[in-house]
Amino acid sequence: MSSPSAGFQVSSPVHSAGRRESQFTYRQLGLLASYSTSSPLRVIAHIDLDAFYAQCEMVRLGTDAERPLAVQQWQGLIAINYPAREFGIGRHCTVTEAKKLCPDLIAQHVATWKEGEEKWAYHPDAASHIGTHKVSLDPYRLQSRKILALIKQCLPTNTQKVEKASIDEVFIDLSAQVHSILLQRFPELTGPPPYDDPTERLPLPPITALDWQVDVLVDLDDAEAEADDPDWDDVAILIGSEIVRDIRAEIHRSLHYTCSAGIASNKMLSKLGSGHKKPNQQTVIRNRAVKQFLSDMKFTKIRNLGGKLGDQVKSMFNTELIGEMLHISVEQLKFKLGDDTGLWFYETIRGIDSSEVTSRTQIKSMLSAKSFQPSIHSMEQAVKWLRIFAADIFSRLIEEGVLENKRRPKTIHLHHRSAGLTRSRSSGIPQGKPIEEMILFDIAKHMMSQIVSEGRVWPCSNLSLSVGGFEDAITGNMGISTFLLKGDEARVSKVISRDSPLDLSSHEPQEKKTRLENPGIQRFFPKKEASTGGDGEGFDHTHVDVEGRVSHLRSRQVPITDYMCSRCNAGLESAEALQSHNDWHMAKDIQDEERGKSTFASSKPAVPRSQNNATLTPRKKPPGSGGGGKRLEQGQSKLKFG
Ligand code: CTP
Ligand code: CA
Ligand code: CA
Repeated sequence: MSSPSAGFQVSSPVHSAGRRESQFTYRQLGLLASYSTSSPLRVIAHIDLDAFYAQCEMVRLGTDAERPLAVQQWQGLIAINYPAREFGIGRHCTVTEAKKLCPDLIAQHVATWKEGEEKWAYHPDAASHIGTHKVSLDPYRLQSRKILALIKQCLPTNTQKVEKASIDEVFIDLSAQVHSILLQRFPELTGPPPYDDPTERLPLPPITALDWQVDVLVDLDDAEAEADDPDWDDVAILIGSEIVRDIRAEIHRSLHYTCSAGIASNKMLSKLGSGHKKPNQQTVIRNRAVKQFLSDMKFTKIRNLGGKLGDQVKSMFNTELIGEMLHISVEQLKFKLGDDTGLWFYETIRGIDSSEVTSRTQIKSMLSAKSFQPSIHSMEQAVKWLRIFAADIFSRLIEEGVLENKRRPKTIHLHHRSAGLTRSRSSGIPQGKPIEEMILFDIAKHMMSQIVSEGRVWPCSNLSLSVGGFEDAITGNMGISTFLLKGDEARVSKVISRDSPLDLSSHEPQEKKTRLENPGIQRFFPKKEASTGGDGEGFDHTHVDVEGRVSHLRSRQVPITDYMCSRCNAGLESAEALQSHNDWHMAKDIQDEERGKSTFASSKPAVPRSQNNATLTPRKKPPGSGGGGKRLEQGQSKLKFG
């Protein structure tokens, strides 16, 4: 990592007469070291990979960086690289349309599991076999993990706080690292404060200009202010920007991916920053530039304001421009939106966000699913899919550390849908012995045969296998070897038949809240919590299921409504679940666009249902699901993992 001092032009080491002191105090500087969300000096970065799935394929295939490439899923496109975007190709295009726009386009189909096979592969004929193939995003998960591991390698082990926000993006709290670099570079900051009073102000930085060397430096609110001497927040953010530039260079050097980044004093601004200029650029938003940065922006671009809530505010105030909302008092906003929402909105459009960068969430369940088009008609076919589900889940369990005895699921569930009825079975997973792929497969088959024995189970339109009840594996004096023993026979400890209703297709959010009527918005957003000062195991535990449904739980227990979908007000239990849920919306939009229908706030999202309410419920059709034809499978349209 290059020296951050390279960015400074030291022009005036001696304070000139009459120079003001810093606006920041010793205490605020100190808070930086502990990632305190209340330090005005905090530095948060957001890194987002450019056209991620497309880049994964470019890297895998070794194509030229300038060659237009898109990632195909059946007849649609799910990722388009920047050279292809120049031709006007977007996610809305079919492969045929895209090829018309750019005959030179490489349309690479995603990897798939083929019915009956135990491994996914890049099948050249996958596009025309939606009935017998299931999408695998494993290749992208793998790349995502590599990139995240590299990012972590670039950061000092003792001061790293990385939150994986989706398959291709992370937040990094650089505060502690920046703090230590500041003290190293500016020894005047290391001394005790005058009178030992931490509320004393810091001396100003001994510099009058900073060499930003960034792609995009957002202009200051006041154009004249550029002549003002920088303060420590400017210096801190510049150091952050240096760190991020080095990380991005390293990602490109060793893994050949480009990404964009935003560096600011909070998550919201850094995320807006990374999307500000793409591809392969980084944007710095200094505190003094926030107002300028936000004023021309539509508030509907902000996380949580992209959907229903944003639309409601927009129609209430007849504008979606932040600049035109700034004169509205907090009282007015509280009156219109409720206390919490009003205050949250007031702060948000002013760039205030004290949400914490949280280290990784832990997986609560994993699901592998397939909707059949056409339906399947025999146990033999079902078993072929169960084999794939078991392999799919098992490979993710390995990622989750099951073989290293980290965590393991306790229960396994099978859902079967036929003629509008959902049947399900659950079983315990034998404990005290290693989980094996074949054990999962055997239990799944056993549960399937129980369902089949009920009769009238064909044709089957959807099957899914899931595991849940994760807990830390080491209990009592069972050592690692207990779990690594091989060869135990699968034994179904108990098979439970569920009786309560479950409609897997209705997707009505379990914790759906109407925000405006219920102003307790704080519950829908990450909590303002005291920092723990450290980052646990993060990235390696953070894949989200894409084809099926996976829910996550943060390592500390949080209400399910901590993350809220701004389009439908669904409460999700983690950032990843929310991301995944948003992807569902997006895929649904694509699907509906294909059908020439408009969807939007009215569409019901897929939200993981609790596993313990199941069985034999008449299936409602999802809105606009029509009679088949081009309908995307839900699993297949969930395109991201966190
Ligand atoms: N993705 C998807 N379907 C969606 C949303 C996202 O398949 N409905 C995938 C995309 O293929 C993408 C990855 O998730 O590659 C990350 O999504 P995102 O960051 O939103 O877009 P990118 O394709 O990475 O493009 P950008 O450069 O704008 O970030
Ligand atoms: Ca991206
Ligand atoms: Ca992204």
